[in-house]
Amino acid sequence: MAVIVNDKYLESFIGEDDTKPMWEKAEKAFESVKNKSGIGNEMLGWVDLPIKYEKDKDFNNELKRIKAAAKKIRKNSKVLIVVGIGGSYLGARAAIEFIHSPLYNNKKKSTPDIYFLGNSISTDNFYDILKICKNRDFSINVISKSGTTTEPAITFRILRDLLEKKYPGNEQKVKDRIFITTDKNGEKSKLKALADLKGYETFTVPDDIGGRYSVLTAVGLLPIAVSGANINAIIRGAKQARENYYAGDFSCGNDCLKYAVLRNTLHQIKGKSIEIFAAYEPALTMMNEWWKQLFGESEGKDKKGIYPASVVFSTDLHSLGQYIQDGERILFETVINIKNQKYKIKIPEDTANIDGMDFVDNISLDEVNYKAFLGTILAHTDGGTPNIVIDIDDRSEESFGELVYFFELACTVSGYILGVNPFDQPGVEDYKINMFSLLGNAKYADKKSTLVKRLEEMGVDLEI
Ligand code: PA5
Repeated sequence: MAVIVNDKYLESFIGEDDTKPMWEKAEKAFESVKNKSGIGNEMLGWVDLPIKYEKDKDFNNELKRIKAAAKKIRKNSKVLIVVGIGGSYLGARAAIEFIHSPLYNNKKKSTPDIYFLGNSISTDNFYDILKICKNRDFSINVISKSGTTTEPAITFRILRDLLEKKYPGNEQKVKDRIFITTDKNGEKSKLKALADLKGYETFTVPDDIGGRYSVLTAVGLLPIAVSGANINAIIRGAKQARENYYAGDFSCGNDCLKYAVLRNTLHQIKGKSIEIFAAYEPALTMMNEWWKQLFGESEGKDKKGIYPASVVFSTDLHSLGQYIQDGERILFETVINIKNQKYKIKIPEDTANIDGMDFVDNISLDEVNYKAFLGTILAHTDGGTPNIVIDIDDRSEESFGELVYFFELACTVSGYILGVNPFDQPGVEDYKINMFSLLGNAKYADKKSTLVKRLEEMGVDLEI
């Protein structure tokens, strides 16, 4: 079990002379993760998290409570609504689709359907999910580290009201169905204060772990456990990755650093400013979203960073594939190759061969997918788009845990190579301040008139 970084398709793009200086930078960056001397070092709690579940009493206890809560939700609910945005929902959703399927909710199963809300402000999406949940027992897991984020806060208000109306006068039934994952401090997190006041069960996002690095805390583990996935195996995978890429013996090389070196060489030396995560499985669509958030929010600051994009092939070979093959040469791809499929489907022989597809008689779909993968890599590299390939064994829980740790470490090392703080996100504040001012939040009252004036001058309607 390992994540392997394959650079054999990069030969015509970069050589040892290009990567050598980047290796020096990567090793220095890695050292500052290890000795906690880099910028944002107070947010490195995810580094030892996989071993803490075993060694630290509080973490062990939290894990037990997560499992007990998941069991309770599975028993008393047909639906779990996970409320959160950014790092507070992407990891759980990525895991459920990676491990089970993007069709998890459509499958026949003994575990609850799981829907994600509070990751947008769309009325219609909200309405559709509520309609699906009507007349079904549902639980809510509200996840917000800060406990003050607008999207989950307003979503929770609406859902709480619904639960209270569903069980009028029965506070216990409401309490049994609300689970809060947030900061431990009720002075900081309004959500924690509310939970304590109402008696809802709470789980903690540790101080030293930021949203996009938090999937292996209760943030991800509770919804994932509700889906029936084995969270011990996820932690085991992450622990193995910690050993392989952070704490172990690197005499055979460190693939995590190698990935950071390759992507930064392509960016800084070869001028490739867009990295496209490419998967050949729809089950990785949300994993792509998780990657994009991890790298985009961690690196994209101080007017620096590689822009993270994503595709799912072969679907997008009939769409963005054109640009990747033949558009502006500013791209490189990081392709995930899953070596073992869960199932086998054979293409039947058809002697009439009216569709002209006799060259695939009796072969399996995954063989066709693999040839698409090989053919595309050759075509894209011939067209001038470098490809890094990352091999993983399968879509098991262990592989998920391993990939998460691998990318969190690679992202931190990359951030340090770039010279940015990989753990903050100052750029997301600007839209919030404008939105709050326009909504009439007293704290930003002084800004409102300037914004209103600007919009009026542009001829924009201020009301819908
Ligand atoms: O990675 C991050 O820190 C962010 O994407 C947060 O997860 C996101 O903004 C949600 O924040 P919170 O969990 O405080 O509601």
